[in-house]
Amino acid sequence: MAEKTNEVRLAFLAALEGVSTVDDLEKIRVEYIGKKGYVTELLKEMKALSNEEKKTFGQAVNVLKNEVNDKIAEKREELKKKEIELENSRMPEFDVSLPANLERGSYHPITLVQRQCEDIFKSMGFTVEDYSEIVTDYECFESLNIPKNHPARDMQDTYYLSNGQLLKTQTSAAQNAIYKKYKDALINEGKAIKAIFPGRCFRNEATDACHENTFFQMEGVMVDKNISISNLIFFMKTMLSEVFQKDIKVRLRPGFFPFVEPGFELDISCLICGGEGCPSCKHSGWLELCPCGMIHPEVLKAGGIDPEEYTGFAFGLGLTRLAMMKYGVKDIRDLNSGKLECLDQFTDDK
Ligand code: DAH
Repeated sequence: MAEKTNEVRLAFLAALEGVSTVDDLEKIRVEYIGKKGYVTELLKEMKALSNEEKKTFGQAVNVLKNEVNDKIAEKREELKKKEIELENSRMPEFDVSLPANLERGSYHPITLVQRQCEDIFKSMGFTVEDYSEIVTDYECFESLNIPKNHPARDMQDTYYLSNGQLLKTQTSAAQNAIYKKYKDALINEGKAIKAIFPGRCFRNEATDACHENTFFQMEGVMVDKNISISNLIFFMKTMLSEVFQKDIKVRLRPGFFPFVEPGFELDISCLICGGEGCPSCKHSGWLELCPCGMIHPEVLKAGGIDPEEYTGFAFGLGLTRLAMMKYGVKDIRDLNSGKLECLDQFTDDK
């Protein structure tokens, strides 16, 4: 019987030698000291032995059992240690005293263009106004000479709230409030109203490379005595030359907007070909950039300003369009995509 015990012992030691994972070790444990393991089976063979033999054999099997247990525990520790060492060897070595290598975020191209325009207008004495994205029908349409059922509303379908308010379709929606805010200073102190108000606009629009349901505009107004179209042209030309960092030629074409009279489309000389004509400007040499005009007397009146005494100009610069031109963005949807690798590349202010 002692031979048998020794056989099992040697087999166990040989098997243990070849074990290289904790899983394999567990298999061996079950194979030897599990319920039907070789060591356990040895005990069953005791039945056939005499009492004397039972005693020595029983002791020998118990010694073996303990040895197997200990060796397995020992091997388990050893394997775990090796696993940790392996894990550690895979870890990148780093120096905790070094400064963190943090990838810096970037500004959205529209933010960059907006800030640039704000700075330019501020330097020309304009205030920058913030305005709500949710407005009333009066602010967005009625006060701008666009009564109910006016066809100009067709192009500006938007998202309506159940309380009748709406997401503004144009930054012009802030005009009425701006006139009311500054009219007293204009009338009593002779301070010209010079304000710009950038903002997000919304329209119910089928989206494609040139159309989005969410886009940015920057409205500007100037109201004082004797304001004329020449003032409008001067400010627009100065601002655009600053934005594009080169002398920009502008031209005005007639355009209809119910809140300006006369109304214009302001074009700039094509940035790509410089006015020679190319596919980007449809070979005309001009790019349509900024609708504008002299503020309609009814709109001034609605803002509490006497149109007999004061005149003014207004413009609605497409900030999204400007950013696309400046950064050569071909698809407007990229700007709202939220894809960092896409937005990152336009940034010159990292
Ligand atoms: N709000 C107009 C639009 O979104 C743009 C516009 C045109 C604004 C003429 C103006 C303006 O201030 O004078 O279509």
